[in-house]
Amino acid sequence: MRKVAFTNAKGGVAKTTTCVNVGAALARRGHRTLLIDCDTQGQVTKSLGVRAGEGLAELVQGEAGLEDVQIEARENLFVIAGGGTLSGAKRLISRRDMRSELVLSEALADLRGYDFVLLDTAPSWDVLNVNCLFYVEELLIPVSMEVLALQGIGDFLGRVRQVQLYREGLRISGIIPTFYDARVRKSAEILEQLEQHFPGAVWPAVRYNSKLSEAPGFGQHIFEYAKKSNGAADHARLAERLAKGA
Ligand SMILES: Nc1ncnc2c1ncn2[C@@H]1O[C@H](COP(=O)(O)OP(=O)(O)OP(=O)(O)O)[C@@H](O)[C@H]1O
Ligand SMILES: [Mg+2]
Repeated sequence: MRKVAFTNAKGGVAKTTTCVNVGAALARRGHRTLLIDCDTQGQVTKSLGVRAGEGLAELVQGEAGLEDVQIEARENLFVIAGGGTLSGAKRLISRRDMRSELVLSEALADLRGYDFVLLDTAPSWDVLNVNCLFYVEELLIPVSMEVLALQGIGDFLGRVRQVQLYREGLRISGIIPTFYDARVRKSAEILEQLEQHFPGAVWPAVRYNSKLSEAPGFGQHIFEYAKKSNGAADHARLAERLAKGA
């Protein structure tokens, strides 16, 4: 069971988009995949058009069991919902005196039967995010090529390194350039800088593609909404890369 978090403390860099669409691509390749929404925005279920019942919050708070919270969204693609109720789960984590960083890992300890468990995380650095880093083994870090990409990423990676001191086996599998636009010179320049800073760690980019922003509104992933789009091709490529790196 590969456990991967899509994470970056910066907002709007396509964490949710890559998590959902890489997950959909893995499921289509025949990998049994679970998406866990660790964000109070609760966008994973909405993006896939499934109704959220009991989810991660209830699981962490001991009000629901693992069997109650796994929703089958598509063939091979399952979801544990996030959403506003996670605020309560964060309070519970904050109140724990000992090993509060392991609350999520304990709640998910009996999870079985998946090839991939993908976590969509919130744009913050809070107790739940730290719990995510203690649960997964791999991090994928989407970085937007539209804005000042490198700003903040150094700080974020510094914090990840702090966690790595205590969490053996946590590694950064890749940095995913997102919102890449070949027509804009800045996009190529930022990508080049990223490759210089992180040699060998930069994965193939996800191009800017309006279909990717439209699909969630229809409750569809990109392979349903626009399977011939650049967005579909780019996420299929990322899934292939992820699957290869076992
Ligand atoms: N490659 C892309 N091309 C065009 N639009 C995109 C692309 N990737 C994501 N988007 C859109 O950009 C917005 C931000 O993406 P997304 O919600 O995935 O980011 P996020 O990092 O999860 O944000 P947050 O930090 O709020 O959780 C969304 O409206 C999404 O549909
Ligand atoms: Mg998000």
